[in-house]
Amino acid sequence: MTRTDTGRTTADQDRRARQTAERFREVYGAAPAGVWAAPGRVNLIGEHTDYNDGFVMPLALPHTTLAAASPRTDGVLRVHSGDGGSSGDGQTVELRLDALRPAPDGGWAAYPAGVVWAMREAGLPVGGADLHYDSTVPVGAGLSSSAALEVVTALALDDLYGLGLTRQRLAQLAQRAENAFVGVPCGIMDQTAAACCTDGHALFLDTRDLTQRQVPFDLAGEGLRLLVVDTRVKHELGDGAYAQRRAMCERGARALGVHALRDVQYAHLPEALRRLAASEDGQEGGPLGPEGGSPGPGSGPDVRAVVRHVVTENRRVEDVIARLDAGDTRAIGPLLTAGHASLRDDFRVSCPELDLAVEAAGAAGALGARMTGGGFGGSAVVLVEEPAADTVAARITEAFAAAGHAAPRIFPAVPSAGARRLV
Ligand code: GLA
Repeated sequence: MTRTDTGRTTADQDRRARQTAERFREVYGAAPAGVWAAPGRVNLIGEHTDYNDGFVMPLALPHTTLAAASPRTDGVLRVHSGDGGSSGDGQTVELRLDALRPAPDGGWAAYPAGVVWAMREAGLPVGGADLHYDSTVPVGAGLSSSAALEVVTALALDDLYGLGLTRQRLAQLAQRAENAFVGVPCGIMDQTAAACCTDGHALFLDTRDLTQRQVPFDLAGEGLRLLVVDTRVKHELGDGAYAQRRAMCERGARALGVHALRDVQYAHLPEALRRLAASEDGQEGGPLGPEGGSPGPGSGPDVRAVVRHVVTENRRVEDVIARLDAGDTRAIGPLLTAGHASLRDDFRVSCPELDLAVEAAGAAGALGARMTGGGFGGSAVVLVEEPAADTVAARITEAFAAAGHAAPRIFPAVPSAGARRLV
């Protein structure tokens, strides 16, 4: 199993914070005012529900994006990253705040620039800043490196300018940056996870009213492990497939006369599916191509399948919570696997590598497994008994080799803290 330097221990974190501050000094010629961190995430259950006013349950990873930052008084924003990863290519990007305009293809700097733009648009007194980033969140792996970058920027600016915003508000501003500035129509889950998760917990979030509950998720204490399997198939939300799935959900809600698919009760699902079958919208809902691009017969979901996924997925979140509350963590395994089947067969956002990871995990004795995040690549999560973790990881790696896929990167998801100030 790959062991990554995630800066998990306090000593690691202190060292990384010092290095990030030191690098800031080299780049900008003075020590930063502070250093902040925000994590990547996996989602335990509740996929493609957040833009349907539904339920999600992410947890933060120990992998973080760090930002060293100082305010500026001349209306200039400078951003720099040395890692060539989620947060840049070693170049310093300099932007004037009064010239910030939403622009697709703005590169990595669009994420922090979008956050500043969103804050100013909201009327918040945010001025310029120098920022240097360092990240251990894998990029394009469906682990929300962009949300980590946005949220760490929002938190740094909140502190630098004494705004006193709540974590949820910071997440909303970060989401606004991604929606309106970067141009990706994501929901609120990833930014909320980065901003609000806490050590040792999964975060239950009702995306309709944004109520939250920290649900204890003590894997180690129960002799369990949650593995992340990064398939290394690059995951991109901006490619249109995500937006098309979202549009199909909205079409389904309209056809059913509800505000959002959240409003379709699980008990009323059969009736809703019958009504969709009888309505024009339900019949003409699909299909979409596998990449959400050109329509291809039989290759994408129809509106009924999309509705069925969202309604059953919300139910699975409630069931997972009930089992965790009852202290029966092992019992969530089958719900995770059922969630994967629904994303694969109904919502159609999986891919062969994700399916293989889930299948190989099951065959090797995992308690449950599913793709996590937007899909079309990225990562899966696998719940295993701790003593079986290495064997299950090895079986998945072997299955990938046998299928001719590049080796996946496998590491434990330790439920970790959300965004915070380090220095
Ligand atoms: C991406 C988006 C989230 C959410 C998931 C799917 O991660 O950023 O808002 O919609 O996909 O659950």
